[in-house]
Order: sequence, then structure tokens, then C-alpha cells
Amino acid sequence: MSSSFGLTPELVRYLADANPPEHPALVRCREETAALTQARMQISPEQGAYMAATARMIRARRTFEVGVFTGYSALATALTLKDMHPIGAHLLACDISEEWTTKARDYWRQAEVDDIIELKVAPATETLDQRIQAGQGGSYDLGFIDADKTGYDAYYERGLILLRPGGVMLFDNMLWSGKVADPADTTPDTTALRALAQKAKADTRVHAVLTAIGDGVLICVKR
Ligand SMILES: C[S@@+](CC[C@H](N)C(=O)[O-])C[C@H]1O[C@@H](n2cnc3c(N)ncnc32)[C@H](O)[C@@H]1O
Repeated sequence: MSSSFGLTPELVRYLADANPPEHPALVRCREETAALTQARMQISPEQGAYMAATARMIRARRTFEVGVFTGYSALATALTLKDMHPIGAHLLACDISEEWTTKARDYWRQAEVDDIIELKVAPATETLDQRIQAGQGGSYDLGFIDADKTGYDAYYERGLILLRPGGVMLFDNMLWSGKVADPADTTPDTTALRALAQKAKADTRVHAVLTAIGDGVLICVKR
């Protein structure tokens, strides 16, 4: 099972037991994805529970996600959106893979949230730019970024335009399995993640907090 960085198997089980039960479609998505060689890309169940709680805390109705894979994080969020807003909930899901998002659509259909998820298979910067040009700036409550790490800065800037004041953007993998704390690691992905953490800390447009949830979630609240 994909789990948060640094947790023992005992703690992973403890968290699973302490948190709300997963929807059957989330269980299926997690178990079937575990058979793929890319399974580690999936967020952990405890991170899904955290994201759902964040959506509930801010009563999110309109959200965007960059990096869908087989659909676990979008499904965890969409279930909460639809529960809170049976009418008007919306999740814009961006990914470049037809293969993986075909699987995602199946889980979304099974959970009956496919009607609130709009999937765009294209580079996410293009999709987000189109939404900005369509006048949707300031209309989103929540964003989740979990795709190519060198693209994070571009998603940050576009996401800040799309979010309403008080809206929240979450960036995944900000600890990068610990590599961000290794000064010898100057690979493009690690460098990009470090740069975003520093930028968000100094950015007066947001209140930013770096947490150790999952593989490190950077929480940015738009002022
Ligand atoms: C870490 S996985 C996302 C995991 C997902 N959030 C989950 O809960 O299972 C990263 C995804 O980003 C997608 N991706 C990579 N580059 C992208 C880009 N430029 N635009 C949109 N999606 C991209 C990949 O196809 C992949 O599905």
C-alpha cells in the first residue's frame, strides 16, 4: 500500500483503523493500482482522508487537480464535494495520460461522482491557461498539484490566479522522500521543489505551511 513517508507498517495500519473507512471505489482503485509498476505515484489513504477533510473545512465546491494517475486523489476529493454540494460541485482534473485516466474514469463511475469531474487530457498548463482566459480567475476553492515537479512553479502561478481569496492549494511530494534535505542532490526535480518551498515562504500573496503529511504537503492559503 502507498503510505506516508517515514511511517512504520504498524503506524500505517493504526492510521487506517483510526480514519473514516474508504469508499469501496477507493479501495478498488488502491488495490488494483498496487499491481502497476508506477503504484508509488498514488497518494496514501491517510493523505486522501486529509484532503477530503481540507475540502470539508473550507466547504470547497469548485476544485482543480493537476496529476490524476488512476484517480485516487480526485475520487477522495469528489466524494466530499458531492456530499457537501449535491448540486454545483465541480472538479477539473488535468493529466496527460489516456491510459491511466481511463482507469480513473472507471472508479469515478463506480462511485457515481463522474458527473462532477471534468477530465482534460492535455498538458496542465494549457488547460489552466484556458480556464484563466475563460474568465474563471478567483472562482476555485481548492487546488491539488501532484504532477511533474519542474512544472510546479507554473502550476503555482496559474493556481493562484484561479483560486478565490481564502482558497487553498496543496502541493504533493514536497519532501521528495527526503531528497530535498540532501544538499548534494541538485537534480532538476529536487531543485524545483526546494525553490517552490522557499518562494511560497516569502510570498506575501499566500500563507504557506510545509507539512510532513504523505511525502510532504505544502499548504498555500491565498490571502
Ligand atoms: C504522481 S501521479 C498523480 C497521482 C494521483 N494524484 C493519485 O492520487 O494517484 C502524477 C501524474 O501527473 C501526470 N502528469 C505528468 N506531467 C503532466 C503534465 N505536464 N500535465 C498534466 N499531467 C501531468 C502523469 O501522467 C501522472 O498521472
